[in-house]
Amino acid sequence: MDAARFQSQHDSLIQAAELALRTLTPAADTRPARLHAAMRYSLEAGGKRLRPVLCLAAAQAFQPAADARHAATALECIHTYSLIHDDLPCMDNSDLRRGRPSCHKAFDEATALLAGDALLPLAFALLAEGYADRPELSRRLVAELAHAAGSTLLVGGQTEDMGGLAAGADADRLEFILLGKTAAMLSAPLAMGALIGGANAADVEHCRLAGRAAGIAFQLVDDLLDGSANAAQLGKPVGADAQNGKFTYPGLHGIPATKARIQALTDEANAHLAACQGDTSFLLALITRMASRDR
Ligand code: IPE
Ligand code: IPE
Ligand code: MG
Ligand code: MG
Ligand code: MG
Repeated sequence: MDAARFQSQHDSLIQAAELALRTLTPAADTRPARLHAAMRYSLEAGGKRLRPVLCLAAAQAFQPAADARHAATALECIHTYSLIHDDLPCMDNSDLRRGRPSCHKAFDEATALLAGDALLPLAFALLAEGYADRPELSRRLVAELAHAAGSTLLVGGQTEDMGGLAAGADADRLEFILLGKTAAMLSAPLAMGALIGGANAADVEHCRLAGRAAGIAFQLVDDLLDGSANAAQLGKPVGADAQNGKFTYPGLHGIPATKARIQALTDEANAHLAACQGDTSFLLALITRMASRDR
């Protein structure tokens, strides 16, 4: 896919994701206004919208019989909640997120905790209500997202991440962290998009595995950027992993091996996408670009 076509498709998917986010989540003045203002503050701070874009694009790759926007919004709600909590003083203690003061800095710790709490059930309400006329699809989407966001993946990965290097530097633990805290929430959008697109079981699985490989690569790039980018470009602090004593892939294996693994994982993801029956050309281009992103 040429660069101009990729850019215009990417821009329109981001626009669709942001419009859905604004229209499907409660207004900032909903009571209690401070809570809803904090939810909106973090949702609207303008991340890359990668998870909703992956979901919308995966649905479009097939023959969608349902609208992917509710699922895309649900994914961004979970992701945003995970960032709000990740930044709290009891976790990564980070004051900058998406180029703005973190939620607990712009509001206060209790409000940030509660804004994250509130985004979590909102995600499942979107899946229950958005696909009410397709109960089996709704059930499968809820199951996918609950699994990815649950105690064995997102929350489990965050749990093991918290111990940092001090909890031991074995490679197996590192894979658990990478798969849980990051890859699960990049695998889910692709699998959910494929389900909405009506993909067959083999293609849903290809999408899931593509997201998993691309998701591990995504965290490796995040870890490299933490050591190399500047905060203005990244929209969050740099050097935070070293400061927090985090256990990372570049820390364990070094930068050249990390770059080689990013390439291998990107190739693996793209092989899964290429094996799908749908038109995965945009997803292929997106996942390829994710490997060399600078923010
Ligand atoms: C940050 O995710 C957390 C990680 C899993 C590395 P993103 O880099 O996708 O953050 P936003 O959504 O663009 O802010
Ligand atoms: C991603 O890991 C964690 C999640 C939010 C699930 P990081 O702690 O490295 O993410 P950043 O660097 O703060 O965005
Ligand atoms: Mg963290
Ligand atoms: Mg963090
Ligand atoms: Mg990081």
